[in-house]
Parts: sequence; C-alpha cells; structure tokens
Amino acid sequence: MFERIVIVGAGQAAVQAVDTLRRRGFAGKLTLIGDEPLPPYQRPPLSKKYLAGALERERLLIRPAAFYADHGIETHFGRRVTDIAPRERHVRLDDGLAVPFDALLIATGSRPRALELPGADLEGVHYLRTALDADRIRAGCTRGGRLLIVGGGYIGLEVAATARELGMEVTVLEMAERLMSRVTCPEVSAFYAAEHARHGVQIRCHERVRALHADPRSGRVRSVLTEAGGEYPVDLVVVGVGVMPADELARAAGLTCENGIVTEAHCRTSHEAIYAAGDCASHLNRQYGRHLRLESVDNAFEQGTTVALNLLGTETLHDKLPWFWSDQYDLKLIIVGVAQGYDTVVMRGTAAARSFSACYLRRGELIAIDSVNSPKDQMAARKLIAAHARPQPDKLADPAIALKDTL
Ligand code: APR
Repeated sequence: MFERIVIVGAGQAAVQAVDTLRRRGFAGKLTLIGDEPLPPYQRPPLSKKYLAGALERERLLIRPAAFYADHGIETHFGRRVTDIAPRERHVRLDDGLAVPFDALLIATGSRPRALELPGADLEGVHYLRTALDADRIRAGCTRGGRLLIVGGGYIGLEVAATARELGMEVTVLEMAERLMSRVTCPEVSAFYAAEHARHGVQIRCHERVRALHADPRSGRVRSVLTEAGGEYPVDLVVVGVGVMPADELARAAGLTCENGIVTEAHCRTSHEAIYAAGDCASHLNRQYGRHLRLESVDNAFEQGTTVALNLLGTETLHDKLPWFWSDQYDLKLIIVGVAQGYDTVVMRGTAAARSFSACYLRRGELIAIDSVNSPKDQMAARKLIAAHARPQPDKLADPAIALKDTL
C-alpha cells in the first residue's frame, strides 16, 4: 500500500482518481498539482454553453472548490511541475518545491496543436483549451462580426454552431477533403457539412492557410490568406487543428512514450510506481488489441478510476468501450467504439430524418457506431461492439429492425 500519492495534472482523470481514492478509504497523503489557477473544471462546455454565455464559470467546476480541502487533498493550483525524478521519487514544482511520492499519476492531458504560420500569434487569433481561452473568444464575439475557424473537427464545428447562435458570420477552413475526417465516415461528414451550410456557415474544405495579416493600426488580425490564393477578411480567428499529448515531463523522466505515455492495460507506465491516464496516455486497449490514445472525458474518467483502484491494491484492467460525443445545434452525435481500420459502413436511417446511425464493420465485426439523434442505436451498439458481434449488413441497414435483432 502506498502512503504518498501525487497527481500531476488537474483535469477529469485527476479528479476521478482522487475522488475514488478517498471514497474507497485511502487515508494517506494525496497531492494534486495543476498549472491552471482554477480548480479542475469540465472542458466540453467551453465550446458550447459556456462560450454561449449560458453557463456560469462556477458551474464548470467538476467538484466544488471546497471539495479538496474537505477531503484532505493538498492542492497546488496555478503551479507547474518542471521535473519528475522517478528514481528519487519526487516531482519538482516551478517554485523549487520537491514533492515526494510513493506512487505518481500523470494526468497532464493534451494541448492544442499550434498553427506554425506567419501571423498565427497575432492578437485576435485564439486556441480553445482552457476557460480563459473561452473567455477571450467570447469577448471577441460580436453580432455580425466575422469569425474564421481553422480546422473542421470537433472544436471548429462546435464553435461554429455556437458562434452562429451569437450572430456571427462564420467561415470554416478545413485542409482535408471533408469535415471531421479523423473520426467519422464520408456520409456523416456530408451530413454535418449540409447542416452547417443550412445554418449559414461557409464551409471550405481543401483549404490550407498560408498566412494571417494584421491591421497595421491595431496590430490585430485582419485577414487570412490561403495557399490557393483566397483572402478572408476577419475580426476573430479560432484555431482547432487537433491536440498533442502533454507527455514532455514523462519523456524527460525516461518513461516510454509513443503518441503519448505508453501504459499497459492497468494504466501503468514503464515505471512500476508511475501511472498515466486521460488524453496524455496511450493504453493497451483490450477491445481492439492495440495501443490507443483517446481524447475524451469518458476515457479520462474511466482511466482515473482504474488507476485509483490499482493504487488501492485491487488489480483492475482498463477495458471499457470508449465513447465520444459532440453537440452542434440540436444534433447530438455519439460515437461508440473506434472506427479505425473499418472496411464497410452501413447506414441505418436517413440523413433527411436527422436521426440515423453509421455502423462500422471490419471483416464482418461491428467495431464502432456514430449515432446522430439516435440514442437507442447507441445504447444497443455498446453491447454488440463489446461482444465482438457480427450483425448482418442487410438487417443493419433496416432501422425498423432493432440492433439487437440484426445478428
Ligand atoms: N488547416 C486546416 N485544417 C486543419 C489544419 C490546417 N493547417 N490542420 C489540421 N486541420 C484539421 C484536421 O484535418 C481536422 O479535421 O483540423 C481538424 C482537427 O480536428 P480534431 O482532430 O477533431 O481536433 P480539434 O477539433 O482541435 O479537437 C481536439 O478537443 O474537443 C476536444 O477531445 C476533443 O479530440 C478533441 C480535441
């Protein structure tokens, strides 16, 4: 049993770990360190309700601010860890303080991939990861203002939907041939492109940004130039071109990293007393039989729990089926499973009904489903995917047949 547990990074995975540890009776020293000044908060509303101004900052907090002191958790918020020393078993903070540990959880998350282009650091160009980022973007939103979004993925499209509600003119530049190509099939991409167009968003695929120009008087971003020679006048730019795992500390400490901090199925890293959870971790996934790095609240939550149980001495494998969601306008997209490597897509229902699912098969096995406003399919699919089921494509294509009856 460990006496001193330190957690680096104070997001969803970290909260879930400290909460589970205390609820299950861990009485040792528990230290939580995070570089943001706020206590841990939820990020999904940052591109939706919080950005729209429909959610107070207090309501973002995952636990009330008093939770940590009430549960005997020592916190260092607004402090960076600069160094992890695995052999000496301590972490060092930016003020020089060394915090010793018997076991360490690295839950440092991910950070936005930077656009490395001339003018990308101009005033008025924003990334969206923190509550502060959302505050800045919100402050730049004006009715009739021109917002240009670089990247047609989750962040870009959710911000586009919110900004339309705020009355902005919105353009999305996506370098791939379609929207959300990292996570979904062409049919679902086309549906979302049509929905955004219907809401007045200009979607431009196959567009790469070449440079951003400033207004010479204010120094603020004024226009965005593309490689194809286009020029877009803008008042505000939001960049959402993906995230990178925040694994630098782990690398410097000599832990095995490859697209994130590599862990085995208990979420343990290459060091026996160090675990990793959430966006920064690439875990050995039992469902798909390979390492996966997942960017989702659910994954952070489940891995945080798994790590806590292992630290408490209960051998626990992380074998939950991943799922993801995105809210855009009145559309609820829920993705269950990981579609990578699919060879067949079967559509259930039609886009016209605005309620349908895309079912991904690999060699006959259902490996993932994207459901749009279709909660029933999504629930049923979880069981089928987890069971490595092989539904019949013709039955799958008939929305009148329940998913469980498609085998
Ligand atoms: N110009 C235009 N588009 C680009 C460029 C570029 N230079 N580089 C990348 N893109 C596009 C990609 O093709 C992709 O469609 O940006 C999109 C990024 O989409 P995601 O990978 O979904 O990343 P993002 O939208 O930034 O969301 C990151 O935040 O919502 C959370 O955890 C969630 O995984 C998600 C993460």
